[in-house]
Amino acid sequence: MNLTKVDFQVSRNDKERLKGHRSFVIWLTGLSGSGKSTIANALEVELFKKQIHTFCLDGDSTRLGINKDLGFSSADRTENIRRVAEMAKLFLESGTVVITSFISPLISDREMAKNIIGKVDFIEVFINCPLEVCEYRDVKGLYAKARKGEIKDFTGIDSPFEAPLESDIELFTNEYTIENCVTILLEKIKNILKLSEE
Ligand code: ADX
Repeated sequence: MNLTKVDFQVSRNDKERLKGHRSFVIWLTGLSGSGKSTIANALEVELFKKQIHTFCLDGDSTRLGINKDLGFSSADRTENIRRVAEMAKLFLESGTVVITSFISPLISDREMAKNIIGKVDFIEVFINCPLEVCEYRDVKGLYAKARKGEIKDFTGIDSPFEAPLESDIELFTNEYTIENCVTILLEKIKNILKLSEE
């Protein structure tokens, strides 16, 4: 509809070369309180030390800004994930490694994100922590509110979480330390970070 894509002269490839590494998206999925943002944060610290350019996108902060019109119905969650995937795709073009932390509870929504971003640039990481543990920790006090009926459609309580059937990486955050998780992630992505001629 009267739209033309502009081909900017400085390509993604040029930007990746300038930064010295490939760009891709590390998509963390898991229940609220499973440790997604903690792992994203710890991973970013280690990547920063290695001079890898990163950007973290997470549910709580994007929902305070660009996605503040969205709630937690299934349609709103789908729109949330669609916008996040589109944002991640833009960051890819800048040569940046994107780490996303969203519950992204539905297989179909994660599949949509993978299609928007592109399969080769999408690494799905399942932050696997049992609901009982997340609820026991209840870092934000939201599970207690959901049990009392003060929050509706809460993931794991009265809204579904569909665990990935074939994630690229699975991290059991009730068994592994944060350091273990970051080590596993770094090991898995070290080859993906390499530019093609290396
Ligand atoms: S998603 O399902 O659409 O992917 P997202 O990751 O953006 O969710 O946001 C989840 C965060 O919103 C949770 O970590 C929690 O702090 C907060 N939250 C508020 N209400 C809900 C709810 N009904 N279900 C899940 N998380 C909620």
